Amino acid sequence: MTDKGVGILGVGSALPGRIVTNTDLEKTLDTSDEWIQSRTGIRERRIAEEGIVTSDLCTEAAHKALENAGITVDEIDLIIVATVTPDSPLPATACYVQAKMGAFKAAAFDIAAGCTGFIYALAVGSQFIKSGIYKNVLVIGAEILSRILDWTDRSTCVLFGDGAGAVVLGPVPAGQGLLSFKLGADGSLADMLCVPAGGTRMPACPESVEGRQHYVRMSGNETFKFAVRVMGDVTSQALDELGLTKDDLDFLIPHQANLRIIEAARKRFELPEERVMVNIDRYGNMSSASIPVALEDAVSTGRLKRGDLVSLVGFGAGLTWGAVIMRY
Ligand code: UT7
Repeated sequence: MTDKGVGILGVGSALPGRIVTNTDLEKTLDTSDEWIQSRTGIRERRIAEEGIVTSDLCTEAAHKALENAGITVDEIDLIIVATVTPDSPLPATACYVQAKMGAFKAAAFDIAAGCTGFIYALAVGSQFIKSGIYKNVLVIGAEILSRILDWTDRSTCVLFGDGAGAVVLGPVPAGQGLLSFKLGADGSLADMLCVPAGGTRMPACPESVEGRQHYVRMSGNETFKFAVRVMGDVTSQALDELGLTKDDLDFLIPHQANLRIIEAARKRFELPEERVMVNIDRYGNMSSASIPVALEDAVSTGRLKRGDLVSLVGFGAGLTWGAVIMRY
C-alpha cells in the first residue's frame, strides 16, 4: 500500500455525430417534444452510426484522455471498461479497446454495474494504484444503448443515448484525488430495469426475439423514486466517511437519468445551478458514459477547477448505486 493519493490525470470523451431530436422522434412515436422535455429535461441525444461499435467510442475517448494526461499508450497498465452494451457477450470490450489502441502491456476487463458502472470502475481501478500494483489505469464508461432499445416503446426509447467518456487514473499527492467511495446494490430489485433475454436466464431463440425480450425494460416510476432517495443518501454517506458535510461540497456530477432527479439532488445539497453538471438536455441518459462525459465537459469548460471538492454519484440497473468524493 502506498500513502500516495490516486487521482484523475486526464479526461476525454467521444460522442457520435448523429443528433436525434425529440421532434425527430415525434415522426415515428406517439410522443411529443413537450412531454419529453418537461418529464425528463432531454432535448436531443446522439445515436451511433451503423458499423460503429462500443469499443470504437471507447478508443476515441481513451486516446483523448491519454493526450490530456500527457501519457503514452505504453504507459497504461490496465484498461477497465464499464458498459452494459459490450461489442459482444464474449470477450470483454476492454480487450477490443486494448487491441485497437495497441496497448499490449495493459491487462483488460469489463465491469457491468448498470448506470453506476463508471463509479464502480473508478473504485476498482484506483485500488490497483493504491496497492502499488499498477501506476496508470484507464477507466472508460461507454454505451451504444440505441442497439438495445425497443424503438416502438415510447416509455424507454426516448430516454437514452450513445457516447463514451474516459479518464486516466494515476498517483497524486496524498490528500488529493479520490478520497472516498460508497458503493451499494440491491439485487432483489433487478427486474425493475433489465434486458430479459440473451443470457443464461433466457438464451436467444426465435421466441425471445419475437417477444422483444432483448430490449431494455424499465419500471420508470419506481426507478425514479428510488433514484431520488439513493442519490442524496449515498453522497451524504461518502461525505460522512471523510468527516465532511454538504457545506464542504463545491461541485456535483450526477448520473444523467432525469433532470428532475438531478434537481432534487441539487436542492438537497444546496448547490447553485452552475455547480451541478447537466448534459442530459444534449445527450439523454448514456448509462455508464453519462458521468465521465459530464466530467470531461466540466473540466474542458473550466467549470470544475483543481482543488474543488466534487461528488460523482450514480444509480442504475442492479439496482446499484455509488458515489465518490474527489478533491480534483
Ligand atoms: O439510468 C437508469 C435509471 N433510469 C431512470 O432513472 C429513469 C427514472 N424514471 C423516469 O425518469 C421517469 O419515471 C420517466 C421519464 C421514465 C417517466 O416519467 P413519469 O413522470 O414517471 O411518467 P409515467 O411513467 O408515470 O407516465 C405518465 C404518462 C403515461 O400515460 P398515462 O398512463 O398517464 O395515460 C405514459 O403512458 O406518460 C405516458 N408516457 C409518454 N407520453 C408521451 C410515457 N412515455 C411517454 C412518451 N411520450 N415518451
